[in-house]
Amino acid sequence: MTDRYAVIGNPIAHSKSPQIHAQFAAQTGQDLQYEKLLAPLDGFAATADQFRAAGGKGANVTVPFKLDAARYATRLTPAAQQAGAVNTLIFHAAEVVGDNTDGIGLVRDLTHNLQQLLRGRRILLLGAGGAARGVLQPLLDEKPAALVLANRTLAKALELAALFQQKTPTQMRPCGFAELAGQSFDVVVNATASSLQDEAPPLPAGVYAPGALAYDLMYAPQPTAFMRAAQAAGAARVCDGLGMLVEQAAQSFYLWRGVRPDTAPVLVALRAA
Ligand code: ATR
Repeated sequence: MTDRYAVIGNPIAHSKSPQIHAQFAAQTGQDLQYEKLLAPLDGFAATADQFRAAGGKGANVTVPFKLDAARYATRLTPAAQQAGAVNTLIFHAAEVVGDNTDGIGLVRDLTHNLQQLLRGRRILLLGAGGAARGVLQPLLDEKPAALVLANRTLAKALELAALFQQKTPTQMRPCGFAELAGQSFDVVVNATASSLQDEAPPLPAGVYAPGALAYDLMYAPQPTAFMRAAQAAGAARVCDGLGMLVEQAAQSFYLWRGVRPDTAPVLVALRAA
């Protein structure tokens, strides 16, 4: 029997996950089928129940259901607890494990694909919503010299930093965008939703240190507003989140199948498409 997996979201038509997992499966010789499931906005649990009853072995979960998925799981991994959200479900007979592979995916894209050292570097993380929370602990685990968490609404940056401050030896400072004046960073990660509105967070001049990398968690066929602004502001390298998408998928695949796919050819194929 071919094992079944799916990505659940709303909307879901645009998802690249089936394409990515089909390539992983072909490459590793795994017998699996991966489909898209559109769940009604108030019907995540029912959709997941149905898929599980039909023999589903696991699922990826995307917008807007990552909190529903955390409630659906009967056990959360430490990564899912830290992220406060679940993007990967593993269906066992007796339990549903909820994990989160987004942060690992970002760090792997940065350190492996982009060869960007994080240890001892100064990181600026923009945003204090779910996306920022999802990547914060894996970034801290790389032991940067400092991590500044900047958000349009200062109160949310303070709140998010408070959740992690106790547990990290890294110097972590929450602030608003204006307070970044006079500081510079080696890596700037945009985890705000600004690119969806074709806007870039208003950063003061000089935040990009010589050689700095600017990374947007979002991806689009054209460079995002953040990427264009970073380029104009002097970032040496500017990247979108397509590599993170492939790497988080690879980690999910590994959790389900115990086999690690080679992400490089999959990323090349997606870029070409
Ligand atoms: P997500 O799950 O994508 O993180 P979210 O939890 O709604 O979504 O958080 C959105 C984040 O993007 C927040 O940090 C938000 O800033 P505020 O807390 O001030 O609302 C940020 N954001 C959204 N639009 C933005 C914009 N145009 N400029 C800067 N930050 C923006």
